Amino acid sequence: MEDQTLFSPAFRSSSSVRMLSLFMPSMTVILTSFWDTMKIILKHMKIDSFWCWLESFGFQKVSSPKPNNLKIHQSASMTPTSVNYHFTRQCNYKCGFCFHTAKTSFVLPLEEAKKGLTLLKGAGMEKINFSGGEPFLQERGHFLGKMVQFCKQELKLPSVSIVSNGSLITERWFKLYGEYLDILAVSCDSFDEDVNKMIGRGQGNKNHVEKLMKIRTWCQEYNVAFKINSVINRFNMDEDMSEEIAKINPMRWKVFQCLIIDGENCGEDALRHAETFVIGKAEFNNFLNRHKDIKCLVPESNEQMRDSYLILDEYMRFLDCRNGRKDPSKSIMDVGVENAIKFSGFDEKMFFKRGGKYVWSKADLKLDW
Ligand SMILES: C[S@@+](CC[C@H](N)C(=O)[O-])C[C@H]1O[C@@H](n2cnc3c(N)ncnc32)[C@H](O)[C@@H]1O
Ligand code: SF4
Repeated sequence: MEDQTLFSPAFRSSSSVRMLSLFMPSMTVILTSFWDTMKIILKHMKIDSFWCWLESFGFQKVSSPKPNNLKIHQSASMTPTSVNYHFTRQCNYKCGFCFHTAKTSFVLPLEEAKKGLTLLKGAGMEKINFSGGEPFLQERGHFLGKMVQFCKQELKLPSVSIVSNGSLITERWFKLYGEYLDILAVSCDSFDEDVNKMIGRGQGNKNHVEKLMKIRTWCQEYNVAFKINSVINRFNMDEDMSEEIAKINPMRWKVFQCLIIDGENCGEDALRHAETFVIGKAEFNNFLNRHKDIKCLVPESNEQMRDSYLILDEYMRFLDCRNGRKDPSKSIMDVGVENAIKFSGFDEKMFFKRGGKYVWSKADLKLDW
């Protein structure tokens, strides 16, 4: 047996171990409490990871970004409760800020689109919103009408809605398909026709606001809830729309802060360049303050808007906007809804936070105007 003198290796190692064992618990306590404090600070700053915290001070990660198809959404069991189907990218207007542009002219054949809608219903869809491009452009609104009818009559969806620029809507369309539609949203960014022209929201001599008023009357006559969408940008940010909105009395007035999406309305391969339209948070808040008495106003800042919509493109691919552009998933027609939705970038929490789930079936709405 080795003699344990002060300088013997055995003594040194055993005393180091003893020293360490005395020291370690207090180190652990110190480190744990340091990390707990850091976690509280990060949480307070609404920053989820240490890396994001470093990034907020200007540090940059050196690793290359992961391709979109490697990013899997945390929630494996996400339900496509409310879906926005941008079935066409074609449009008759030229809004300078548009973030869903005519990059293709593709439209799924009607029977294929119906198959896709059936898959979505099977995965839990309750609300479908048809958008574009301009949804009334294809077959003068009949393509849209047939999908609306199919979703209400065959799929029995609680809510079927459309967002449109309104210019191509006719009373005949309401006669044919109005009974199957719950909500119609018409986009209107200004009640001043000159501003609409500057924005590009118009075609020839058509008066956008006059048409908006006509559609509102048809909605009343054909029992369809009426909504207005406005994009707040450099050209309309100082406008006071209170009087007109109060008169029209829409069920909801969605007020968006103009959003930039790389490849759509900014960047080299974009068809629109919206940089001159963009406004800051303070300017957006000024607009909201001016309209604070309007009860139906639903504000959506860039942050609230970007990831809180489940967007399907013309190929029925989910579009992930988390990286500031629209990265497509595979088509639900090829891989099914459950596989495709993992790559949607959808922020379900933000969807609820921005009031995405509301009374959206006309059967439950009191349409008393
Ligand atoms: C892409 S449009 C398609 C439907 C239709 N053509 C229309 O304008 O209503 C859908 C909605 O997005 C809004 N929108 C377009 N570009 C936007 C942008 N850059 N920021 C925020 N909203 C935008 C439109 O005003 C509209 O309400
Ligand atoms: S925002 Fe304007 S340009 Fe874009 S799809 Fe709608 S009407 Fe067309």
